[in-house]
Amino acid sequence: MKKINLAAALLPVVFAAGCATGPSAEQQAAMADDARKTAGSLIQQLGGELKKSMEANGPEGSIAVCKEKAPAIAASLSKSSGFDVKRVSPKNRNPKGVPDAWEAEAQAALEKRLAAGEKPETLDTWQVVKTSSGKEFRYAKALVTQPVCLTCHGANIADGVKAKLAAEYPDDKATGYGPGMVRGIVSIKRPL
Ligand code: HEC
Repeated sequence: MKKINLAAALLPVVFAAGCATGPSAEQQAAMADDARKTAGSLIQQLGGELKKSMEANGPEGSIAVCKEKAPAIAASLSKSSGFDVKRVSPKNRNPKGVPDAWEAEAQAALEKRLAAGEKPETLDTWQVVKTSSGKEFRYAKALVTQPVCLTCHGANIADGVKAKLAAEYPDDKATGYGPGMVRGIVSIKRPL
């Protein structure tokens, strides 16, 4: 029987399938699907907590939900999904919510799509990018303002809410929004 060097024989296949060229279109679509589900779960969980708290405690009493529950839900989803999940915005409230270059570009692109008439529900984008330490899968989902968001992010915030926000977030940039604007993105990434 002729011996085949299996490793050598397979190497070009492996490279063609993944390593050299990055994940295939199908693999990318599957990762985007996963990321979309993870972002959806963050939005749903946080929205549920916020609604419950707004009804029970009003806006002033709900600032803590955004401050504590939002990062906690993101951390728990990061653990369960294997992605790194967070919320960022060029007009950030949380001092840690500053977008990196990819996130800023992604949000700008999503804003253009919204302005061109696309529905908020479908406003997401993804890309495989090269970094100094290898390749990374990146995903962004737009968070578009609804009327409730304006209680804490709008142009006419009630005095009590304003005072509490100023005390908790002295460098707050996340006000002055109207309805139907991109407040920020859910940003998801995973090294490949
Ligand atoms: C009760 C007040 C309140 C309401 C209502 C509210 N937010 Fe926020 N939002 C906050 C606070 C407080 C933070 C900062 C959270 C933190 O410390 O991580 C925040 C942070 C964010 C961030 C993260 C980026 C940043 O600026 O730090 C996004 C995105 C965001 N909110 C979007 C929304 C959207 C969209 C809605 C409506 C669905 C909404 N918010 C409703 C208070 C609120």
